[in-house]
Amino acid sequence: MSVDGAPVAADWRGMVPSDTAAVVSLADRVHPTFHEDEAVFRDRLSLFPDGSLVLAAPGGGLAAYAIAYPVRRFVPPPLDTVLGRLPEGADALYIHDVAVAPEWRGRGLAEPAIERLLALAEPFGAAVLVSVYGTPPFWARHGFRPVEDEALTSKLASYGEDAVFMLRETMKEG
Ligand SMILES: CC(C)(COP(=O)(O)OP(=O)(O)OC[C@H]1O[C@@H](n2cnc3c(N)ncnc32)[C@H](O)[C@@H]1OP(=O)(O)O)[C@@H](O)C(=O)NCCC(=O)NCCS
Repeated sequence: MSVDGAPVAADWRGMVPSDTAAVVSLADRVHPTFHEDEAVFRDRLSLFPDGSLVLAAPGGGLAAYAIAYPVRRFVPPPLDTVLGRLPEGADALYIHDVAVAPEWRGRGLAEPAIERLLALAEPFGAAVLVSVYGTPPFWARHGFRPVEDEALTSKLASYGEDAVFMLRETMKEG
């Protein structure tokens, strides 16, 4: 925490199982129309622990979380679904969610978590995500571009009408 009690971006850490109740609590505040059960967060944490990050809030609870795991590039999982296992032949890291509590937004807190997730994406060749709430410009600043594909449209149904599938190739040389 900083001197004024605000969370500090350097304090992002790996999620542990005892965090998942606080993750659900923040997820329900940030996404009131997209509830996901605690079992979903436990599932992602156990399948790909490196991709689940949290940032503590002053006074308890969480200021932010970020979740990502390997997928097949154009197969975004439906919301609120326990996967049980990762797909074979994963060729992208899926950024399932990056969420900052409303009271801590606009301080660049998401940035280092996104950088960590993009580093994890390197071996897969790409990072993908489903942008909601008009966030494509935010993701574009991190190198993501929209992918327009009719086959994707039905897979995005549970994400709402403003959902945009976005992809960022990793920056491998040669
Ligand atoms: C998207 C999100 C993760 C960005 O986190 P953040 O730490 O606030 O990111 P930044 O500080 O870089 O700010 C991002 C933008 O929000 C703007 N912003 C500033 N204060 C804000 C506030 N109180 N509320 C919302 N946005 C604010 C910033 O100005 C910035 O825009 P700019 O770069 O054009 O100036 C966060 O807004 C969030 O959790 N949103 C809801 C969940 C969400 O949409 N997640 C992504 C789903 S795909």
